[in-house]
Amino acid sequence: MKATSVAPSNLAFIKYWGRKDEALRLPTNGSISMNLSNLLTTTTVQFSAELAQDAVAINGQDFVPDAIEAARVSRHLDRLRELAGLRQSARVVSENNFPSSTGLSSSASSFAALTVAAAAAAGLELPEKELSILARQGSGSACRSIPDGFVEWLDGDTSDTSFAVSLYPPQHWPIADVVAIVSREKKLVSSSKGQLAAASSPFFAVRLGHMADKLKLARAFIQQRDFTRFGELIEAEAVEMHAIMLTSTPSLMYWLPGSVKIMRLARQWRGEGLEVYFSVNTGQDVHLICRPEDVEALTARLRAVPDVTDILINTPAPGARLVEEHLF
Ligand code: DP6
Repeated sequence: MKATSVAPSNLAFIKYWGRKDEALRLPTNGSISMNLSNLLTTTTVQFSAELAQDAVAINGQDFVPDAIEAARVSRHLDRLRELAGLRQSARVVSENNFPSSTGLSSSASSFAALTVAAAAAAGLELPEKELSILARQGSGSACRSIPDGFVEWLDGDTSDTSFAVSLYPPQHWPIADVVAIVSREKKLVSSSKGQLAAASSPFFAVRLGHMADKLKLARAFIQQRDFTRFGELIEAEAVEMHAIMLTSTPSLMYWLPGSVKIMRLARQWRGEGLEVYFSVNTGQDVHLICRPEDVEALTARLRAVPDVTDILINTPAPGARLVEEHLF
């Protein structure tokens, strides 16, 4: 059977950086995110007795089976094959509507879409929790792209307790995430690799010591729709994660000059009365969080910044879902 899924990327307000179990991809702390309406992966999967091996095409490029990308997809398909008792290989075609490897979490949307499409194509009818557990094993942040809207990845100690749940549906709070693309340059160190260094930062233990408090505050500010306190919290959280990256061994620096320019401008604009807060992941592109009524003013200012090559506007979105239209 053939199945297709569309899944959103997500932006973590409280971030996942560091793992306590590599093989199972269990994070050192819980995280809280929002699905992004305009950063989407569409993936079609078809298992077939006629294929000798998995055939993977991503963004129009065919990968040989032992290419890193194809091997990671095949390993993920193995998890679903095992669950379904299926031995057939699959054809996988996947398309992102946004740049990959620039800090926009394409692995989150990709592995969420792959999980939902492959499960359906394998004839499995899995509850959201199981889909989230499976997606997590492909890429940690992908587990948060399964449920709707504002999402928490619970800090479980076992595979069965490490999954994401919806805290609130997308309509709960119509904040906007305006993404400033500063370059299409691909990052040098993937999140998967970078995370291995997290625990080497002398500040990592300090970070872990207050993650439970941060998660509690984030939950409360989202519930109360307290934009100012929420914004201050998530901007400080992004900076703290980058402080861990910068002080780990090897030291990781994901920002480009354009990223720093935007972060400084966000603070300047805030001082001028345009209330915007930034967040950055593993890459150079900058997420700017603002109220819906400020999107126009913010994009107008961003358009005047020469480093900004593209602007992508997102609102809170539903999680991964099956769709009728296939890619092949
Ligand atoms: C900075 O989920 O991409 O975006 O599990 O190794 O695939 P893997 O890592 P990944 O890491 C995400 C890192 C982050 C923070 C976050 O999304 O929580």
